[in-house]
Amino acid sequence: MPLSDTQFIELAAPGVRALQPYQPGKPVAELEREFGIRHAIKLASNENPFGPSPRAIAAGNAAMQDIARYPEGSGHALVARLARLHDIAPGSVTLGNGSNDVLDLVARVFLTPETEAIYSQYAFAVYPISVQAAGAMARVAPAHDGSRGPAYGHDLTAMRALVSDRTRVIFIANPNNPTGTWLPGAELEAFVASLPDHVLVVVDEAYFEYVDAPEYPDTSRWLYRYPNLIVTRTFSKAYGLAGLRVGYALSHPAVAGLLNRVRQPFNVNMIAQAAAVAALDDTGHLHDCVRRNREGLRQLIAGFTSLRLSYIDSAGNFVAVDVGRPALEVYRALLQQGVIVRPVANYAMPNHLRVTVGHADENARLLSALEKVLS
Ligand SMILES: Cc1ncc(COP(=O)(O)O)c(C=O)c1O
Repeated sequence: MPLSDTQFIELAAPGVRALQPYQPGKPVAELEREFGIRHAIKLASNENPFGPSPRAIAAGNAAMQDIARYPEGSGHALVARLARLHDIAPGSVTLGNGSNDVLDLVARVFLTPETEAIYSQYAFAVYPISVQAAGAMARVAPAHDGSRGPAYGHDLTAMRALVSDRTRVIFIANPNNPTGTWLPGAELEAFVASLPDHVLVVVDEAYFEYVDAPEYPDTSRWLYRYPNLIVTRTFSKAYGLAGLRVGYALSHPAVAGLLNRVRQPFNVNMIAQAAAVAALDDTGHLHDCVRRNREGLRQLIAGFTSLRLSYIDSAGNFVAVDVGRPALEVYRALLQQGVIVRPVANYAMPNHLRVTVGHADENARLLSALEKVLS
């Protein structure tokens, strides 16, 4: 007799048994198929609506010529380019199939069922998945309630209070998804400096390029001071290469060496490597995307304000808006209007929707659909 679903689950590693898979945003094609509509728009996955640099597309196309070969496993050219960008030794760079991959590598290398990881309430959903899959104990710090720091934001005092002899990894998203909240440099550095040597702190800077606040830190500059710091970045957001899956970690070379032990040999494909190098060379395109994102964010916020909806101040390319009622209903009604956003009830934010900044006409369409749905 074949095994039942339950029996298969019993065969799985203990950490995996109770895991819920990551819920990605609904693809446009799926919505159009389901509802029999056309011209749907997706503002649900924090992608860059302005797309990658044309130079990245050209480099990716050129790399297609060679795809019968394995990519350079070490990612030599991209690693060298990133080392130059960050003024750091190439041995400090670990490439990932998206930055999710490097976050997961950190969990696999440093977490065991005997150890603990810390992250904040409302923090990016991949941290609980990686921690649980490694069988480690997750310690979740309550977020700020708005009295001593931005509501929904990471409370570093609460996070510090959870550090114990068993702590190995702390995940900090700066800015965080889905809240868009961020931590200023002085506060974050005092936290990192306060940690005991046996604790690694991952600062996830997936939205780094979008932030323009002067107090927002570039923690890659701190790596020489804090050997237990790991900084992660991605090409999926401001560089517009989400579909290619390329991100990286910067760390002490000994930490990079450990990550490299469990990294799949060819985890970043050759098209992604070539496109990422070219994307780094087109700073004009990057700045243009960041500028247009800021305009889009302003447009969405002005729209929410005129609809009398409150929102969480965001430094990223998305904003969480409180629709004042169960957001899942509003999400479904918006789908019928051909607009895909992201419900965040899985983050225990049942009245919020996370809206990714789109083109000006997409933002306008979301706002008018929202007005109609809420009226
Ligand atoms: C905070 C944060 N970190 C990491 C990622 C992972 O992105 P990627 O794996 O595409 O680099 C995301 C994606 O949404 C994110 O929001």
